[in-house]
Amino acid sequence: MYSKISKISSINKMHTKQLDQFVGQEVTLQGWVANRRESKTVVFINLRDGRGMCQCILGVEDLGEELFATAKSLGQESSVAITGKVVVDERQIGGYELHASHLKVYQNAKDYPISNKEHGIEFLVDNRHLWLRSRRQWAIMRVRNSIIYAIHNFFQREGFVQMDAPIFTGNAAEGTTDLFETDYYGQPAYLTQSGQLYGEAMAMAMGKIYTFGPTFRAEKSKTRRHLSEFWMIEPEMAFCDIFENMDTIEAFLRAVVLEVIEKCPEELEVLGRDISKLQTISKTFPRLSYDEAVEILKGHKDVEGQNSIKVLEQDLLNVEMRIAEVKADISSREAAIAAGGMKKGEINFNQNKIDSQKQELKQLEEDQRNIPNWLKSARDFVYGNDFGGSDETVLTRLFDNPIMVYDWPHEIKAFYMKRNPEDPRFARGVDVLAPEGYGEIVGGGERETSEEWLVEKIQEHKLPMDVFQWYLDLRRYGSVPHAGFGLGLERLVAWVCKLDHVRETIPFPRYYGRLEP
Ligand code: 4AD
Ligand code: MG
Repeated sequence: MYSKISKISSINKMHTKQLDQFVGQEVTLQGWVANRRESKTVVFINLRDGRGMCQCILGVEDLGEELFATAKSLGQESSVAITGKVVVDERQIGGYELHASHLKVYQNAKDYPISNKEHGIEFLVDNRHLWLRSRRQWAIMRVRNSIIYAIHNFFQREGFVQMDAPIFTGNAAEGTTDLFETDYYGQPAYLTQSGQLYGEAMAMAMGKIYTFGPTFRAEKSKTRRHLSEFWMIEPEMAFCDIFENMDTIEAFLRAVVLEVIEKCPEELEVLGRDISKLQTISKTFPRLSYDEAVEILKGHKDVEGQNSIKVLEQDLLNVEMRIAEVKADISSREAAIAAGGMKKGEINFNQNKIDSQKQELKQLEEDQRNIPNWLKSARDFVYGNDFGGSDETVLTRLFDNPIMVYDWPHEIKAFYMKRNPEDPRFARGVDVLAPEGYGEIVGGGERETSEEWLVEKIQEHKLPMDVFQWYLDLRRYGSVPHAGFGLGLERLVAWVCKLDHVRETIPFPRYYGRLEP
């Protein structure tokens, strides 16, 4: 019996996800007061215990006057233990209710700064240490946890060896513009941008490896996809070309997303995530060469009879029509309320509608501002450039699954990329672009095996040759075709949870201008 309760048999503690085993029995739950309502004789507490929620009903008759008065005094986020009988109630979050017989207060908290009313985003990020307790953040952190677990599951199942790459490095891997420099015993060192080069060395020792670690980039721009500190997963495979690499990426993302859908139905529901948009991951990912991608982006080539530019122009018209509709509906409801004569319930109903429509309006107006910029960016795109965020949004608009863009102009890719032997204008890199406007979540490719070409690239990128000698050794001693990729964990979490910004995907985000809390 105990093993069912907790894997650690000496700790017999109940939590909200075990209530199904104790219907009709007395249990004690420990947690925090997420919110509290009261009438003359009953206090309702929504108890949050980290695992889930449970409504607790504390009646004056069961508790006695003194404890009941304490219950009435509890502020939001007070820490308590509540003992009571478990009763099934499908209407409640979690499906159970606790009819309390006893209350123990650890701390009665007063003036918790985050209430149920709307707060500005800066305020919430400033209070990240508390914001993490909110229901949406709870859901996001649990999805993140499940994603991490699924990633390890996939690679361990497939025989990859997890390795830790160093954080202090003497060389850049992904360009020199966004390095964080530190002082390493009087010598300059950089915080790692990528574990890949070390991963390549380890792959020559182990066959298949993956890193899972923090990476740092001094991105001096505030976008919704850039962090200064983020977690990257970088597998590397010996005897692997770009096409097998793409097969691996596809199988990997599919396995991870499907596992998360299976394990996190409650969390995804809290987030209001439309699961059907994730389930398409079971379908084959389209693979496009850079050249094809540019044609589609500029509207010179259709995908299944659809044209990216025309579809976006239509999106804009739809947005404008919807804005007019929503505005008209809001003002007619406001007028109806103002005219008077409505019952209280009716007023509330209409007010709720107005509030939710104002939310929708905000999003619509943002789209109305953005779409023309995306269209301009796509039309003006110059062949040979890297895709910006706007270009990725336009390009992915026609697809409901991640797409893989490969064979990039070698000038815009990292020094280690293999040149396509059949057409050396291109490097064998691959980017995976997520749908629904999320864009790049994975970057990878096949690695250059020729020492001569690598040396040339290192010079071209003005990188210091001496610190790359160890890397060149990998081409001198048993060089083999090899490939790998890097997944940005936070970008995947943002897409799976459908978040507006990566700052909510990590417990304590670090991005340009943010070092606290
Ligand atoms: O495309 P990137 O720069 O590729 C590499 O670092 C390679 N060494 C990977 C490899 O082949 N082993 O970065 C990989 C991924 C991006 O696709 C993106 O998801 C994420 O890392 N990423 C960031 N995520 C958040 N904030 C940033 N500033 C990021 N920069 C890259
Ligand atoms: Mg990239």
